[in-house]
Amino acid sequence: MRILVTGCAGFIGYHLCLALSSESSFKIFGIDNLNNYYDVNLKKNRLKNLRKTQNFIFKKIDLINFNNLNLFIKKNKIDIIINLAAQAGVRFSIEKPEKYFDSNFVGFFNILEASRLNKIKHLIYASSSSVYGDNENYPLKENSETSNPLSFYAASKKTNEIMAESYNTIYKLKSTGLRFFTVYGPYGRPDMSLYKFCDAIHYKKNIYLYNNGKHLRDFTYVDDVIKSILIIVKKYDFRVKKHKIFNICSNNPKSLKFFLRNIEKNFKGKTKVVYLKKQKGDVYKTHGDNQNLIKFTKFKNFTSLEEGIVRFIDWYKKYHKVRY
Ligand SMILES: NC(=O)c1ccc[n+]([C@@H]2O[C@H](COP(=O)([O-])OP(=O)(O)OC[C@H]3O[C@@H](n4cnc5c(N)ncnc54)[C@H](O)[C@@H]3O)[C@@H](O)[C@H]2O)c1
Repeated sequence: MRILVTGCAGFIGYHLCLALSSESSFKIFGIDNLNNYYDVNLKKNRLKNLRKTQNFIFKKIDLINFNNLNLFIKKNKIDIIINLAAQAGVRFSIEKPEKYFDSNFVGFFNILEASRLNKIKHLIYASSSSVYGDNENYPLKENSETSNPLSFYAASKKTNEIMAESYNTIYKLKSTGLRFFTVYGPYGRPDMSLYKFCDAIHYKKNIYLYNNGKHLRDFTYVDDVIKSILIIVKKYDFRVKKHKIFNICSNNPKSLKFFLRNIEKNFKGKTKVVYLKKQKGDVYKTHGDNQNLIKFTKFKNFTSLEEGIVRFIDWYKKYHKVRY
């Protein structure tokens, strides 16, 4: 199988390409535009690690450029596309909605079109828990209400699901959407809380806790996410006709305060916490139901948040050469 992973220099894309490229039955192609939404060196370092594997080819391509994208897919006879490239981040979407329109609307449309034209056998794409907005019934199931996005990011992900559904109905394009819930782990994103809190402790800066730290998040360790995607890639039954959606979550929400206490304990450092009110776009709680995922993958040994934090801090200290 020849697999294209978009957003391969990103956090989840990097881990996914590492795992896929260790399987001899796959040939892995990665594309990314290496944008500067966060530290480009982190993206380049991820790519450096990926280039050490024999089974991985990288090309710098922007999803917005349909001709380059389509040609690359055609030339490399891609069978499966895993679309992770997107403008991520809830808060930034309130500042710069146009970035989301480009990558998440136009870019995703180009992925659908290129998939249709090149007869892609299975398109797997990243959606997000943000599509659920502020829901009242937990845990959130794949068929829970998703028509009240609180941010333009959430709107872009919900729109992707509807676009994929329509390509499935009209052109029979087989696709699976993955609603990721707060994925964290080594080589994680510097704009997300775990990285930001470690930076604040390391550089002795304030930590800002929105909604007074009362937010609850269904933190999901990156290795668990990658294992789930690998099983979805391998077990997919090509006779299935319908577009499917899975929650990718550990079904174990924790408060930001609990999260921070664990980080401070393991980092062996403390810093000043500034409590702020809830921000526009933020949802109060994410808590996903993962029964459909477990039923399909049989994967149920999710990494505890405590263990995941220890692994992230080990990586952070090595990567930033922190000595204590
Ligand atoms: N990490 C999470 O907790 C989380 C949660 C929900 C959904 N998601 C979704 O999962 C996917 C991967 O997230 P991530 O955390 O790895 O984010 P990331 O920002 O680390 O990775 C995305 C990658 O896509 C690339 N990219 C962006 N726009 C592009 C374009 N137009 N053309 C080509 N490349 C482009 C970026 O350079 C980046 O390397 C995204 O779609 C994101 O919205 C992530």
